[in-house]
Amino acid sequence: MKKLHIKTYGCQMNVYDSTRIAEVLAPLGFALSDNALDADMIILNTCHIREKAEDKVFSELGRLRTQKMDREKDGKRLMVGVTGCVAQAQGEELVKRAPFVDMVFGPQTYHRLPEMVARAAREHGHTLDTDFPLESKFDNLPTARTVEGASAFLAVQEGCDKFCTYCVVPYTRGAEYSRPVADVLAEARTLVAAGACEITLLGQNVNAYHGAMDGTEWGLGRLIREVAEIDGLERIRFTTSYPAELDDDLIKAHRDVAKLMPYLHLPIQSGANAVLKAMNRQHTTDDYKRVVEKLRRARPDIALSSDFIVGFPGETDQNFEDTLKLVEDVTFLQAYSFKYSARPGTPAALMDEQIPEALKVERLARLQALLAKQTMDFNKTSVGKTFRVLLDRTGKRPGQLIGRSPYMQPVVVHADADLMHTLQDVVITAAGPISLQGVLCTAEQRICA
Ligand code: 5AD
Ligand code: SF4
Repeated sequence: MKKLHIKTYGCQMNVYDSTRIAEVLAPLGFALSDNALDADMIILNTCHIREKAEDKVFSELGRLRTQKMDREKDGKRLMVGVTGCVAQAQGEELVKRAPFVDMVFGPQTYHRLPEMVARAAREHGHTLDTDFPLESKFDNLPTARTVEGASAFLAVQEGCDKFCTYCVVPYTRGAEYSRPVADVLAEARTLVAAGACEITLLGQNVNAYHGAMDGTEWGLGRLIREVAEIDGLERIRFTTSYPAELDDDLIKAHRDVAKLMPYLHLPIQSGANAVLKAMNRQHTTDDYKRVVEKLRRARPDIALSSDFIVGFPGETDQNFEDTLKLVEDVTFLQAYSFKYSARPGTPAALMDEQIPEALKVERLARLQALLAKQTMDFNKTSVGKTFRVLLDRTGKRPGQLIGRSPYMQPVVVHADADLMHTLQDVVITAAGPISLQGVLCTAEQRICA
């Protein structure tokens, strides 16, 4: 077997794609390896969302060039591939700046990897494949799935037609596409048969899902109900949702489907309507609050996560204060927040009134302090509760395992190693800013089988 190392940057969709890339390459004799240093092939699965993410890729390529030359001195070959959103957006520039790269391919063409690898093995020079092909990669990927651990990702929707003015995704991932219901269900069953008890349905705009089924269209709510029927599957999550597409049926699914976790990532981006408008978001702050209220009525224990951008062009002090106020009003279990990063080719990059870096830094620090406080407050309310935790990694200390609560909080417990990748009831005993501590329930305390 040859060794394949994949380094994944960015979002969960990239994590999913990396798994699938490994599945495409397995029949060619490549086995996944954690070790980059003795790999025969290294693939960088890249992210283009912010400038920093892109910079990381170019500095990693600098290191890989040296590694490849060293290996060639030993008479061996290291094949290097670059995929993901940097490959899609900057394929041409990438091969100019890093001509030693053998294969550059976009997120929609990795089913063609066997041909690319064969070509790269035959000829030196690079292959560049960043088409948006007519055939769907999903119809050309192996149907067998590998599951590491007990939690798996399943892409149900890809691409985005929303064109938020700051965002590269519509350009790098292409137009919205929903996989047919039957394909999604087949893949979900395969994942469960391969050991998954938790599935996260993925899409850049997952709640815009509109998959075909026997001549009708199913939304995400209906899809979730059907996925929930799979025996052996215990938990369902989905991400990432667009507020203006959160329909009543999906909200009802949160009320009715016990397997659907009470946690929703719902990016708002800003708490000021003028900024939302300039961002071309299709919701106002009131729309957002209304949908949150409906969700909380349907599922009172639901907790929210979100994304925020600070320092969007033209964001005034008052706009930023409005964001803080919205966070106070809505309250989040946690949220991701970023300084606005101008991306080439997006409308916002050309807007007047770009915000100075120092002000972005200051705003980000204030927002993050408030969000961290809300996370801590939520974590404190978890103490004394019993959570079902999916144990999925070892802790720092011997005998410790770490898992995820229904709310995605990391929970540290003392537990036998053979409980790894199982769901256990855990009484939460202490809360920190990032994680919780707990003890496994005794049989008598157990709230569920
Ligand atoms: N600058 C900063 N953050 C961005 N995001 C997307 N594009 C940009 C950008 N140009 C953030 C948004 C999105 C998350 C995935 O990344 O908050 O929801
Ligand atoms: Fe980007 Fe907006 Fe689409 Fe999200 S909805 S992927 S932020 S364009």
